[in-house]
Amino acid sequence: MDLTKTSIDKNTNAEIMLDEIKVFAPATVANVGCAFDILGFALHNIGDEMIFRKTEKLGITIISKGLGNLPTEPKKNVAGVVAIEMLKDKNMQFGIEIEINKLINPGSGMGSSAASASGAAFGINKLFGWNYNSHELVHFAMQGEKLASGAEHADNVAPAITGKFALIRGYNPLDMIEIDAPKDLYCTIIHPQIEIKTIEARKILPKEIALKNAVIQWGNVAGLISGLYQSNYELIGRSMKDIIIEPVRADLIPDFYELKNAAIQAGALGCSIAGSGPAVFAFSKGETIAKAVKHAFNDTYKNNGISYHLFVSKICDQGARLMD
Ligand code: HSE
Repeated sequence: MDLTKTSIDKNTNAEIMLDEIKVFAPATVANVGCAFDILGFALHNIGDEMIFRKTEKLGITIISKGLGNLPTEPKKNVAGVVAIEMLKDKNMQFGIEIEINKLINPGSGMGSSAASASGAAFGINKLFGWNYNSHELVHFAMQGEKLASGAEHADNVAPAITGKFALIRGYNPLDMIEIDAPKDLYCTIIHPQIEIKTIEARKILPKEIALKNAVIQWGNVAGLISGLYQSNYELIGRSMKDIIIEPVRADLIPDFYELKNAAIQAGALGCSIAGSGPAVFAFSKGETIAKAVKHAFNDTYKNNGISYHLFVSKICDQGARLMD
């Protein structure tokens, strides 16, 4: 498989950069229960496809296809903003066309804007043969998130670049840690077909929290990270408790607590809101339980009049990547 998307000049044996590449940018789940704004993971086979083309005409052209009605003015488009930032950083002019085939619903909680932002950072870096590392790519992608959500959070864009779990230990400067997923960890997702804008779901959050709640929350975050490193599924489950953000946002998601109870009854380790919702995710040990959780989600939602999609996925090792 041609991973670098270069081809070889048969006469000179020199590498030629291709003028067009196709990128897969994965969906992601952020927060992972208690770890608001600092932890996320990448999903398998759910994501956007993006094509990057060099153009003779200088500037950025956006073509929007698929779901949502994305703005095509570069300054108003998440991928466009990332391209503008990269161009500024290189202090050079270039011509680029970005075709976004949006397959992740905007406002789903599954990292739709992060996929566009990360795909753009990764794709532009590859197209021009630049050598930005993953920290730098995340930094660029965060500018896209800022446009979409009003905040430079990296808990979706980091795993969308690196795959696995990505922990943001600090933002100033960006300090990012990749964590392998325990091998039997599965994620089940229900995506009710309603839109929740992250920017709105952030406005309703408390600005301050009580110290006694902070103690409970950071105990759970530490437990969750320890559970991931130790592949201790039981510890992961009992640490996935969010007493600060989830209770406020639960009201935005019809039948959230019914979904959560059904998942736990079906054997899930834990269940919470994916990002800012409306998608809800549950972790399970093994595919059999993850599929039972999918049935439980289905039974909970099938008669409430809201359309929905269901997914079962392992945690993907890879972030944004080239497609054949
Ligand atoms: N951490 C962000 C939030 C993720 O919860 O607002 C948004 O997908």
